[in-house]
Amino acid sequence: MEHVKFSNLKEGDAEDFRFLIEHDKSYAGEVGDRLVASLASLDDSFSSLKVSRLEHSLQTATRAWRDGADTDWVVSSLLHDIGDLHAPYNHDEYAAVILRPFVREQCAWTVQVHGIFQAYYFAGKIGGDQNARDVHRDNPYFDDCADFCERWDQASFDPDYESLPLEFFKPMVDEVFAREAHAASVVRPGVRVPLVDTDLAEQRKAH
Ligand SMILES: [Fe+2]
Ligand SMILES: [Fe+2]
Repeated sequence: MEHVKFSNLKEGDAEDFRFLIEHDKSYAGEVGDRLVASLASLDDSFSSLKVSRLEHSLQTATRAWRDGADTDWVVSSLLHDIGDLHAPYNHDEYAAVILRPFVREQCAWTVQVHGIFQAYYFAGKIGGDQNARDVHRDNPYFDDCADFCERWDQASFDPDYESLPLEFFKPMVDEVFAREAHAASVVRPGVRVPLVDTDLAEQRKAH
């Protein structure tokens, strides 16, 4: 069987849908490859800044990795701005939708709201509300998102920083997107893993 037999869903039988589900699984299994390819395409943007969106993403992920952060944090850092491609006005939510089935709730939430937290660094300078992020003050991950922005995201516009290449992060992306989607052991609601692991950071210093 190469294709389903139906032209509209109403006509499909069990054989069709079993075939379809298997095929969709293998297509979903390649999502890591497609995301890395999309990320690579961000290399020609951010012309008004000193670095491209790709470089900003690599720098954010490299800072996370050098801080000893775990794979969920590193991959979330790498992909946190991937929404810029197709959703410039809600890029954070877009990236979170992609990540949510495959990373800890803590990291998905951080990515989802990082835009309003980043505003802390510029909104006050152009007449906006620097503290707009305070609408999330009661969220248990508030400090994690504030730290994500302070340590990694807002700091990663530096053309002189030596980032690790995209190929370095590819195995981590593959690992994350090979996980069982929405599994409780992946999402781990309420679990807060620190952004920084000083022992691991020391070991990774050579990179
Ligand atoms: Fe962003
Ligand atoms: Fe960013």
